[in-house]
Amino acid sequence: MKFFIDTANLAQIKEAQSLGILDGVTTNPSLMAKEGITGHENVIKHYKAICDLVDGDVSAEVIATDFENMVKEGEILAALDSKIVVKVPMIAEGIKAIKYFSSKGIKTNCTLVFSSGQALLAAKVGATYVSPFIGRLDDVSTDGLTLIEDIRLIYDNYSFDTQILAASVRHPMHIINCAKIGADVITGPLSAMSALMKHPLTDSGLAQFLADHAKAAGK
Ligand code: E4P
Repeated sequence: MKFFIDTANLAQIKEAQSLGILDGVTTNPSLMAKEGITGHENVIKHYKAICDLVDGDVSAEVIATDFENMVKEGEILAALDSKIVVKVPMIAEGIKAIKYFSSKGIKTNCTLVFSSGQALLAAKVGATYVSPFIGRLDDVSTDGLTLIEDIRLIYDNYSFDTQILAASVRHPMHIINCAKIGADVITGPLSAMSALMKHPLTDSGLAQFLADHAKAAGK
């Protein structure tokens, strides 16, 4: 399973990279706005900075919602670095754009996916990744993990190459359950990934080891 960090914050990306668990980065217009990244030049500069920090894919989302401008934006982003994945929303114009990018060998991430029907279309047009938002489904009393299960079944039935990138991950149990189902990637905050390490019995066990060692050494 690949771990992508869901942020445009360079310090968070650096911290995740230092843990040795990072396989890529996903951003979206809200995450870029949160970091105060506005204007074409600054956006380009920031994506280059992210690409310089990681070894894996970096999802950069287009702002346009029409085919022609999605293509214009996406080709500029893709030209920045081979790590760039052009992120496109699941709308009719977006499906056309993903089909075009696929034909040109440009990696894509179909985002804002909330149903298996949408995921099926993303695979049919050759999306590299599909991003079902499990946390946002949970937020409206719908089990996001059931969607991951359904997409996994459909993709396996037809051997689609599109990778399931479970997005809108909120906590470690999302990660563990996505791993059980067989999602290819999760993307979430560093806190959710770091929480996988934590267990009170590990902490108490280590404290006891160190105490016993110190006692035996007469400290
Ligand atoms: C992927 O990058 C999505 O945009 C992101 O995971 C959405 O997460 P959120 O539901 O916490 O905004």
